[in-house]
Amino acid sequence: MTKKSLYVTTPIYYPNDFLHIGHTYCTIAVDTYKKFKTYQGYDVFFTTGTDEHGQKLEDNAAANGYDNPLDYIDPIVASTKKLWESLDIHYDAFIRSTDPQHEKNVQAIFQKLYDQGDIYKGDYEGYYCTPCESFWTETQVGEDHLCPDCGRPVQIQKEETYFFRLSKYRERLLQHYKDNPSFIMPKSREHEMINNFLKDGLEDLSVTRSSFSWGVKVPFDPKHVVYVWIDALSCYLTAAGYGYDQERFERLWPASTHFVGKEIMRFHTIIWPAILMALGLELPKQVFGHGWVLFDNEKMSKSKKNIFYPEPIIQTYGVDALKYFLLREFSFGQDGSFTREKFINRLNSDLANDLGNLVSRTVSMIEKYTDGLIPEARTYNEVDEDLKAVALTILDKVNEKMEDYDFSGAFEDIWTLIRRTNKYVDETEPWIAAKDEDKTRINTILYNLSESLRIISNLLYPFLTETSLKIRHQLGLEDLPKIEDAKVWAMTKPGTRVKKSEIIFPRLDVKVEMEAMVDKNEALIKAREEEKKSQDLKDQIADDKKPEITLDDLEKLDIRMGTVKKCIDHPNADRLYVLTVDLGHKDITIVTNLKSKYSIEEMEGRKLFVLYNLKPHNFRGIDSEGMLLAAEDGDGKLALLTVDEELRNGAKVE
Ligand code: MSP
Repeated sequence: MTKKSLYVTTPIYYPNDFLHIGHTYCTIAVDTYKKFKTYQGYDVFFTTGTDEHGQKLEDNAAANGYDNPLDYIDPIVASTKKLWESLDIHYDAFIRSTDPQHEKNVQAIFQKLYDQGDIYKGDYEGYYCTPCESFWTETQVGEDHLCPDCGRPVQIQKEETYFFRLSKYRERLLQHYKDNPSFIMPKSREHEMINNFLKDGLEDLSVTRSSFSWGVKVPFDPKHVVYVWIDALSCYLTAAGYGYDQERFERLWPASTHFVGKEIMRFHTIIWPAILMALGLELPKQVFGHGWVLFDNEKMSKSKKNIFYPEPIIQTYGVDALKYFLLREFSFGQDGSFTREKFINRLNSDLANDLGNLVSRTVSMIEKYTDGLIPEARTYNEVDEDLKAVALTILDKVNEKMEDYDFSGAFEDIWTLIRRTNKYVDETEPWIAAKDEDKTRINTILYNLSESLRIISNLLYPFLTETSLKIRHQLGLEDLPKIEDAKVWAMTKPGTRVKKSEIIFPRLDVKVEMEAMVDKNEALIKAREEEKKSQDLKDQIADDKKPEITLDDLEKLDIRMGTVKKCIDHPNADRLYVLTVDLGHKDITIVTNLKSKYSIEEMEGRKLFVLYNLKPHNFRGIDSEGMLLAAEDGDGKLALLTVDEELRNGAKVE
């Protein structure tokens, strides 16, 4: 790998359901990191994807009526890709664990580990959590026998399984941590791994399942499927070209940083390095464990009904607002709570007041005082020098923060300049300077303001790309910013024409927006439920086609048009009507269950179709001499069949 090349990854996501804001956190962070390093001149390869095997997905697919789990998974994967697109996420590889090349790799890896004795066959008995697809020990599940990860009840399960000799790698892992102090970041997570999992020994790991079949088959024993972790973790290799593009693999591997949520650190810092050691492959340089985005201090989950989806937020406030909030509000390594109030307040204070306002007042003043042309700065006083000095130090600070993935700190540094520039406006009072006959002072102030904003746009470019470009557009700068220009003062050409456009971040009413956010989130959930229902219905209608009949069979039906002359309640049945229907040549009696749908007034006088030659049937003492034709949509909605033109009673359906 050349010096300036990086390979970064997010986990591959379970396509169980639509992704929520928490899921977007890591992807937004890694994408921003990629954009920043690219801006610095690195060649960055970024991988994400979906983790598509396992019992939960098999069960979910079956519960939704799909024989082939992929039919259930494909639309969710498509929605995931669409979400990344709408968030302007620039990944280089999207790996699906069901990709044939990946499945081939998993089998080859498994075979190699088995052949060399790192995998062996045995029996496993333990407490199993189906939703988490994890076995736990007695101590881990505690007296209540609850899964330590999700808190749901676990069941004892025994099965024949293949084990990976994880125990063999304990010493080497500890040594690796020692020799590579930045392998696990933040450092506190390394202590967690050692204290919770390595200190008291390490057990071999069950790596196959025979209780379900949706997975990569063990090549020499196909009743077993490879359990999630060898399968999922190896995606990082497949995405890098392992097994099919050696040149790319050599260029990318080892990965620079795997970014993962804190609950999957164990898999990435113990199991994954041990597998790689066994395979004789280099270990990733680093695994970074980020915190969780909580919602009102609780973990987001469907059962708690506190899931917030990113789509309505992006549509209403823009991609940059969501990115800014997630990366600025929370410290990347720690948990943080998403609250609607904090979100709107941040937008108002940082984006609307500090930044948006600075842009709009600078451009307005240039329009007003210097005919829309950026003037020339002549003489610099102390305040001007201070602004310039602050502006030119920010990039170094941001670079430093980004070495530690400190997105929040990087934003804080950029905002130091934004706030300093706002203060500069207050200190220099351009509206007073504008009244001077000598324009030297106002010209200098306005030039410095636009120059400071140019540097701000340079600094923001990899973080809030859209916003950066909007600022540049207003400043009349149509070229893409270059990072090194953030350390140069006086680059803007005097005489550049500014273009006042709409406010980049309007101020929002906290209360109104907080309510609107809930409404829009709920509307999305409802719309998705409706869509699912209508899809289910389509599938149902398509699936339950009755056996074919011939024209002769059809000939047997005698269907005629009639008019309801009289409708009365059935004397012996609460839910039934007794109708007298005029079929033209005679009146007949029909008992019907349409009472819940139509009133007597609605029935009487109604034209409808009757199956006339149906064998009479006695309903609670009254013979029904035919049947009305109605359609039901499977959703409980019912309607009587009718015609688009007036027909006389007795007209036959041919
Ligand atoms: N499929 C495994 C990962 C395999 S990687 C080889 C998995 N998938 S997941 O969909 O459950 O989670 C994917 C990532 O999303 C994890 O890093 C997880 O921590 C992260 N998040 C899920 N909910 C989250 C929040 N509420 N906040 C932040 N990240 C969260 O685990």
